[in-house]
Amino acid sequence: MPTPPLAGSTTGPAALRPLIDTVLTALHDGAHRRDGPLPAGGPDAVTPRMRTATHPVIPDHGTGPHDALRTLVSALAEGAADPADPLCAAHLHTPPLALAAAADLAACALNPSMDSWDQAPAASALEADITAALATEIYPHQPSPDALVTTGGTEANQLALLLARERNGPVQTICAANAHHSITRAAWLLGLPAPLVIPAPTGVMDLAALDEALTELHRPLLVTATAGTTDTGQIDPLADIADLCTTHGAELHIDAAYGGPLLFSPTHRGKVHGLDRAHSVTLDLHKLGWQPASAGILATPDRTHLDALHHRASYLSADDDTEAGLPDLLGRSLRTTRRPDALKIAVTLKALGRTGLADLIDHTVATAHHLADLIAKTPTLDLYDRPTISTVLFRPTDADDNTVATIRRTLLIRGHAVLGRAHTNNRLWLKATLLNPHTTPDDLNTLLDLVNHLAHDLTEGSTPR
Ligand SMILES: Cc1ncc(COP(=O)(O)O)c(C=O)c1O
Repeated sequence: MPTPPLAGSTTGPAALRPLIDTVLTALHDGAHRRDGPLPAGGPDAVTPRMRTATHPVIPDHGTGPHDALRTLVSALAEGAADPADPLCAAHLHTPPLALAAAADLAACALNPSMDSWDQAPAASALEADITAALATEIYPHQPSPDALVTTGGTEANQLALLLARERNGPVQTICAANAHHSITRAAWLLGLPAPLVIPAPTGVMDLAALDEALTELHRPLLVTATAGTTDTGQIDPLADIADLCTTHGAELHIDAAYGGPLLFSPTHRGKVHGLDRAHSVTLDLHKLGWQPASAGILATPDRTHLDALHHRASYLSADDDTEAGLPDLLGRSLRTTRRPDALKIAVTLKALGRTGLADLIDHTVATAHHLADLIAKTPTLDLYDRPTISTVLFRPTDADDNTVATIRRTLLIRGHAVLGRAHTNNRLWLKATLLNPHTTPDDLNTLLDLVNHLAHDLTEGSTPR
């Protein structure tokens, strides 16, 4: 076999073009064979089909690029839970914009690594501008805010706790029961005391309980609030929490992985009022920002807050290079080799502009409200609450939790719909996390019809069709 061509340089694009054509055809064919939000049949059907495509994993003699791409990409697409299908709406699992995926292809072809300037001369300049711009969106009144690119909310939350520990010593974290599990894990990973978890009886942090905890606990304290909870999409009362932190001398981190991009919408940005009062903010553009994973951000109000991450490795950031003016990038992450995730973000921001992004956000929130309206009008369904962002919880009126769980699983196994589950108010709910800006009212009706029919069949004791 001839030496395979490379993706970069002047010859790379010509080598890539026919391969991409094969990939695009395979994506189309796989999605066509799936013909729905996910493959029917559950693991018993999906796993052997994928295995057939994969094996032998390491053949003695390769099959060549077109066959390998066609076979594996089409099998992966056929077996995908595809968030671009309106009935795939379980998680904060976004359907990426085509333009962001195209930008990511360029990132793969050029393969800049963000750990040293000599591997990423232009990409490091691009990342610096993008992180500065996003930090300014979050902290518009600060003279020198900054942000790091992360693999997502989990890494951003870990960094937030790490920075708080480096500023203050072994901080006691306080979070509410609605917080993402990564907060507790970060405390564990960093050798910090386990977070004190205060109640969130209405889905958001209870302020009286926070006041009490802040009064009683020994300092240093870090409160982590959530702007857009994983289960219900609710937003903690950020400004009130910031006030309590100020009164008690505690620091504040806000996990706005989901809700942060509301800042781009003049209609909805009031919902995250108070974000700029946090010592750090997590934001994920692979949720309400339509980026392929990963596109996380950790923002801080002042660039010096990131100094604790400063690190030297002479082969990447020699002192004399830094003194000569080459940017020292190692302190921008705990990772070494790092993808230029800023590129797809930059392309998206430039292509859509503020108004384009705001339209996407507004439309998505409006779709969630429409779903809530439909549920409220359906006597056989209960609505948990009006959506704050784009998460809608609902359940068949007379179903027990076991039936709710069975409905979700049956829809999954049949390949009819991907809904999430959330346990709140002592009951299990079906969760629709709407992130697809192409979802139509007809799609929402189809989703509710599927749930209603299944609930009827299950509660009547008949075998679900
Ligand atoms: C509120 C919140 N924070 C953090 C995360 C973790 O984000 P990631 O999966 O990008 O690490 C999630 C994930 O859904 C989330 O909902």
